[in-house]
Amino acid sequence: METGAKMGYEAWLRYESVERDVLREAYRMRCQAIAIAGQTKVLNTAARELAEAVEAMTGHKPGLASSRDRQMPDVMIGVTGRGDTEIDQMVVSGAAALGDEGYVIRTLKGEKGEPDRIAVIGASDRGALYGVFHLIRIMQMREPIDELYIAESPASGLRMINQWDNMDGSIERGYAGKSFFYRNNGFVEDFARIRDYARLLASAGINAIAINNVNVHREETKLITAEYEQTLSKMADVLGAYGIKLFLSINFASPIAIGGLQTADPLDPSVKNWWAERAADLYRAIPDFGGFLVKADSEFRPGPFTYGRDHADGANLLAEALAPHGGLVIWRCFVYNCLQDWRDRSTDRAKAAYDHFMPLDGRFADNVILQIKNGPMDFQVREPVSPLFGGLSRTNQMLELQITQEYTGQQKHVCYLVPLWKEVLGFDTHAHGEGSTVDKIASGALQGRPYGGLAAVSNIGDDACWTGHPLAQANLYGYGRLAWNPALSAERITSEWIRLSLGCDPAVEEVVSDILLKSWRIYESYTSPLGVGWMVNPNHHYGPNVDGYEYSKWGTYHFADCQGIGVDRTIETGTGYAAQYHSPWRETYNSLELCPDELLLFFHHVPYTHVLKSGKTVIQHIYDTHFDGVEEAAALLESWQTLRGRIDEAYYELVAFRLTEQSQHAKEWRDVINTYFYRKSGIADRQGRLIY
Ligand code: GCU
Repeated sequence: METGAKMGYEAWLRYESVERDVLREAYRMRCQAIAIAGQTKVLNTAARELAEAVEAMTGHKPGLASSRDRQMPDVMIGVTGRGDTEIDQMVVSGAAALGDEGYVIRTLKGEKGEPDRIAVIGASDRGALYGVFHLIRIMQMREPIDELYIAESPASGLRMINQWDNMDGSIERGYAGKSFFYRNNGFVEDFARIRDYARLLASAGINAIAINNVNVHREETKLITAEYEQTLSKMADVLGAYGIKLFLSINFASPIAIGGLQTADPLDPSVKNWWAERAADLYRAIPDFGGFLVKADSEFRPGPFTYGRDHADGANLLAEALAPHGGLVIWRCFVYNCLQDWRDRSTDRAKAAYDHFMPLDGRFADNVILQIKNGPMDFQVREPVSPLFGGLSRTNQMLELQITQEYTGQQKHVCYLVPLWKEVLGFDTHAHGEGSTVDKIASGALQGRPYGGLAAVSNIGDDACWTGHPLAQANLYGYGRLAWNPALSAERITSEWIRLSLGCDPAVEEVVSDILLKSWRIYESYTSPLGVGWMVNPNHHYGPNVDGYEYSKWGTYHFADCQGIGVDRTIETGTGYAAQYHSPWRETYNSLELCPDELLLFFHHVPYTHVLKSGKTVIQHIYDTHFDGVEEAAALLESWQTLRGRIDEAYYELVAFRLTEQSQHAKEWRDVINTYFYRKSGIADRQGRLIY
């Protein structure tokens, strides 16, 4: 068995010795010592991280110094605005531009015979840590550090990860082993892996984490009690050393479940007191606690509806309890009727979040953020963007993405999601005219909101390479980078991830970036067609089952019959969902002629003979994409095979194994889908290929 490192445990923080002597010497020379201005937990982390990276890449361990020794070239790590004029002067562009978490990295030319130095100056401790990780990244990418002048700050305040870990050690929708936070209804004893995870997250710019599943079960309900205070405070320290704030998912019915009250009614004074006391206790134990993440009245979780109250009442109850301590309530909008009658065509799950939350716009407290999934259904391979983005205008909002590949191949298939997320973030809602893109709404910038950001469901577990499929690490990295800067191109992020994780061999970069960048489209082509979604096996959601959800209560239907397929969500004859968008999307989606092909079946029910913009009929499109998709999946494996010998053997083998499985499983998808539609429609494939 290979070492953990070779299996990808180090992920994108892999520090190989620099091969080129000149460059290695340059890094060594410029990083002979590390000076920190001010001793804080996070600055110490930054210095230690830099020292480890420089040592691994150059073979020379830089000395650590708290005072500045001007005889040696050093990297100076500091924070502006703390009364140190020398530091403040280094941020020539002005500290204001750096926001709360930005940084400047500069190579300063030595004066009066003094050596050059590199300054990494943060707007805060966290900013300095991000600056250090940036500097490390530059060296990992083998770029020069002689003339650095970089200033960066994140686009969003909250860049969050949601763990769907349960205290029994399982992970809801986890495809990379067991939880390394919990075991046997308690916390793990050793936090070493949690610390390593925090490093990875911080290096990608993540600053917040909710450490338990949004479905809060019995034991997890107790996380907000004295029983877990000590452990949580230790956990908060480990995460806090990397600038990451700890949040907890809570059970709305906690006052009953653990508080001995008869009710959890958000307007009941005893309930308010109870939450206020819980919040005060939590903040006594964990002064920098982030707040609560809440799934309420959703998929059998309790919520304010039980008491005839609405979600503003529910969220504001918790907001009031947390406000005195600076805490936040992150309230999820994944609220819909999961007991629908499939015969009832008037109810449309896609409309639910908008219908529930739009009437409440403006009623949420300032420290409440609504967390909205990217699409109106549930993380399908293709969905339109949720119309709540652009709908809400007086409410803090956060975009929720799913890194864990629940519906996108469960980390057995490669499906690189950065291109999908780029489309979501760049979607122009037209809410306030042109340019009202989701990234600017989610960050709060467009509507001048105090809070905003991104959250994503993690894809990690105790698996040797963290993510089951080594290439799935790119999704975690890419999420962090996009949350930091949604303007980064998918190509740029991909190139970074490959160089950091697999080294700077151009042949590797070419092949792996091609695999990653194509993978989402390929996965889409052999799974459910034209935006209709679902067609998966119920419960575990892996593999094809066209009618798996067709006669169920979950509100996820495709309505295929012998003539056609798709959901009519038009204003005139359908559910009216298209009306939840601003113009021109409303008209675009509502019109059969204008609706983009890839979302056609999300918005329209059409005959199989309907001709797409591509010139193909719907049925021929289904056949072609499924046949092509299988070939493209096989080609992914072939191109990976050209890398044998260029990548650590164990890593190579694991990816090859996964790609083999993918290309076989893609055939299952192809044959089930094609056969189903051939049998339903009776229309033959024009190319006469084998359909069963
Ligand atoms: C999906 C997923 C569930 C999860 C839910 C949620 O429906 O299948 O496991 O609990 O999303 O986001 O709350």
